[in-house]
Amino acid sequence: MNNNKNWWRDSIGYIIYPESFKDSNGDGIGDIQGIISKLDYLHDLGVNLLWICPLFDSPMDDNGYDVSDYYRINPRFGTNEDFKTLLEEAHRRDIRILIDFVLNHTSDEHPWFQMALRNENSKERGYYFFRKGKRDENGELLPPNNWKGFFATSAWKQVEGSDDFYLHIFSEKMPDVNWGNPELRERYYEIARFYLDMGVDGFRLDALAHLAKDLSFSDSDKEADASGLVLDTDKFSNRPELFAYLAEFKEKVFSHYDCLTVGEVGGEISPQNSLLFSDREKGSINMVFNFDTVWDNGAYGSIDKTDEEIRTNLIELKQNFKKWYDVCHEHADMPLYWCNHDHPRVLSQYGDVRFRNESAKMLLTTLLFMYGTPFIYNGDEIGMSNVRWEKPEDFYGDVGNKNSVKYWRRQGYSEEEIVRFLNRSSRINARTPFQWENAPYAGFSNVEPFERVNDNYKEGVNALDEMNDPWSIINFSQYAIYKRRLPEIKEIIDKGSWDILDIRHPDVFAYMHEYNGQRLIVVSNFRPYNVFFSFYYRIHDVILHNYDNVLLDDHVFTLRPFECFLLKV
Ligand code: NOJ
Ligand code: CA
Repeated sequence: MNNNKNWWRDSIGYIIYPESFKDSNGDGIGDIQGIISKLDYLHDLGVNLLWICPLFDSPMDDNGYDVSDYYRINPRFGTNEDFKTLLEEAHRRDIRILIDFVLNHTSDEHPWFQMALRNENSKERGYYFFRKGKRDENGELLPPNNWKGFFATSAWKQVEGSDDFYLHIFSEKMPDVNWGNPELRERYYEIARFYLDMGVDGFRLDALAHLAKDLSFSDSDKEADASGLVLDTDKFSNRPELFAYLAEFKEKVFSHYDCLTVGEVGGEISPQNSLLFSDREKGSINMVFNFDTVWDNGAYGSIDKTDEEIRTNLIELKQNFKKWYDVCHEHADMPLYWCNHDHPRVLSQYGDVRFRNESAKMLLTTLLFMYGTPFIYNGDEIGMSNVRWEKPEDFYGDVGNKNSVKYWRRQGYSEEEIVRFLNRSSRINARTPFQWENAPYAGFSNVEPFERVNDNYKEGVNALDEMNDPWSIINFSQYAIYKRRLPEIKEIIDKGSWDILDIRHPDVFAYMHEYNGQRLIVVSNFRPYNVFFSFYYRIHDVILHNYDNVLLDDHVFTLRPFECFLLKV
């Protein structure tokens, strides 16, 4: 195992969504033994850090982000013993493991919440936010305020048989916990120590931005939606108390372990403010995931747009990467990712299924060689893409989508419009079973899986067929990761300067690292057609390329669809 201090700077991360990764026991659901059976595959790919989405006991309202027992592995996924075996087997292969730690809410089935509901005077009542509802002029009971949650409903749910409500900024089965309560905080520190003592290498900290709320619980005065609710993230994001909680977490727990902490901070934070979390000296965690580079094709909130209107705004995408790099790289470690289990497939987002091979390789190369710790989402290495779903109910595996469908129907959107939008934006797209081979159910399971398998596994989009093809995405990925981990390449990326070349070019993402007279350049065409790019450097080495000849004439590259290079110049 690489025991260097700050080992994550040498890591290539890989995100596993356990439910859909590999089923080992024939119940149609991915599980821990399934992950163990694929550790050699991951090791061969070259990744050495796994972020595994939640594995803990849960009624699965939000697919494991609703935890009902932090100390117990969800029986769907295996046992606590299986989890320990996973840790040992991963470590034996020099692979480290981050678990997904949900701090903002529990399941409503968690014993803390059950006690809080049963007994108003219990200490657990103080672990959550209970407030009285308001009466309107007709005497009707309304939620305490107009806050809307992330899953398309009011952020409040009435307690049955009472005029109390509890706060839930995600699903109503996920009550928010009160980080202002010192005892609650201690309960989370105990859980963290439990797993660190067991040997986990760190945490992906879920929904971290939201731990502190505006405790006045006053109405938002921002513009309301058609039902009078406001999704005003300022009311529960990145508020000052949050940083005090995290400083305490660091002091009491993180600083005592050699562990990596990666917070999900979402879309509302500026690079400057992100340093409040992850500044190497003053911050409390190691790095943060932002969302700024995820939706630069305009798919987010695009229900009124036609498919033709969805197009990658490459200038914006480049500017977003640059603004984070410019502010952060001297002060903080940074993760790199295209998408995760909360987004559609990157290949459908920024690539093109008509150029599956070229665009998957291009996207990997562009991401992998930037400054930071890359995280590859499972399946991207074999070119998995979005599914063509047919009806709104096909998206009901996601509680957020399910609520949204109801909302849009009330707003009068047609079934076609809803499906068109969710086909391009739903996170269900990233959660279909992993395609291992051209066998029933793509070799994910020997029975019908919990979720539909993308049929394209029959057309070569599966790991086994990919491994057998020398020009495949997976073989390219393996080679690219190998190159990325070479000390001489890493040094240029880690220590050199980085800049985007011709940032106003609408179609080409090109960047350069420079260190000690060495220059590393990536040139990537983000379009499904030929584009031109001026190039004034002398090429010393073509390290990676996704076509087999080079069209460079008098300082002008002709870049074919999704063509990309990694060059030494
Ligand atoms: C972020 C997680 O990645 C997502 O899947 C989940 O729905 C929310 N946090 C709530 O926990
Ligand atoms: Ca299973």
